[in-house]
Amino acid sequence: MSWRSFPKAELHLHFEGAAPPAFIRGLAKEKSVDLTGVFDERGSYAFRDFPHFLQVYEAATQVLQTPRDYQRLTRAVLEECAENGVIYAETFLSPDFCGGRDLHAWRDYLHAIQEEADRAEREMGITLRGIVTCIRHFGPDKARETAICAAETAGDWITGFGMGGNEAIGRQGDFIWAFDCAREAGLRLTTHAGEFGGPDSVWQAINDLRVERIGHGVRAIEDPRLVETLAETGVVLETCPGSNVTLGLYRDFASHPIARLRDAGVNVTISTDDPPFFHTTMTREFEALEQAFGWTADDFAELTKTAINAAFCDEGTRARLLKRLEST
Ligand code: HPA
Ligand code: ZN
Repeated sequence: MSWRSFPKAELHLHFEGAAPPAFIRGLAKEKSVDLTGVFDERGSYAFRDFPHFLQVYEAATQVLQTPRDYQRLTRAVLEECAENGVIYAETFLSPDFCGGRDLHAWRDYLHAIQEEADRAEREMGITLRGIVTCIRHFGPDKARETAICAAETAGDWITGFGMGGNEAIGRQGDFIWAFDCAREAGLRLTTHAGEFGGPDSVWQAINDLRVERIGHGVRAIEDPRLVETLAETGVVLETCPGSNVTLGLYRDFASHPIARLRDAGVNVTISTDDPPFFHTTMTREFEALEQAFGWTADDFAELTKTAINAAFCDEGTRARLLKRLEST
């Protein structure tokens, strides 16, 4: 069966990481930006490992220089999502890339993104919400500035705060101020942990940052007590199996712990992370999971429902999405 039109909800999507390579190349040409080293000979993003991926990612963002560029990016990303049956997506947005953490500039970027997202909702029936994201390897001071941008723009559309970047640098606890600031502004919280960091990083995310969702979190499987805690507390994992396989955490989908975590009662969901970087789409994730674990429409409907229930959106939006899922 083709999973393309099956309704999907995606909770873990880096906005610049979702940019089609041709889109970035087009902007580079318009602006005469040299992107040597960003693409391979076939035109795909080229990177050796995770730290190099982050470098290439940041190099590609150089062409995204204005709110108008982000408006065009919004269109390109949402078209791709909608073509893959995504009815709801949350995306990580970094004021670091959108206006250099200047609040005034950040508001302009946000306005442009939201305007295009509203248009996409009317035309393609896809709903988008934003999670402001600090970048771990940029350090706690920049994260504070990012958290202030998040707090000042918290509302119906910016509904969450999170952290991406290089998990090998610093500790979750270094970012307590930023996460407390975001929580006090009413934002819901997630952080990358248990991808390149082990179970300890997931414990720190829960205990120090008090997040309700974890980006990846799959290495929790190495600590049975942590798996139990995740199942008992209902902390949700934003699992991105294709990303983990491409970056070499697991040999293939069949070796990925998503099914074992799910069987242990952990709330797992499915996302793509940075789809063109990892040669994936939501449709491909579903296909590979079906092949690896024999998951059926009932399984995928349950996973989509888990994602909608864990979405950082208002209750009216949630009810509407659940209804849409039930009617298909
Ligand atoms: N992981 C962590 N940080 C990131 C990623 C990612 O996949 N993409 C952009 N920043
Ligand atoms: Zn990620």
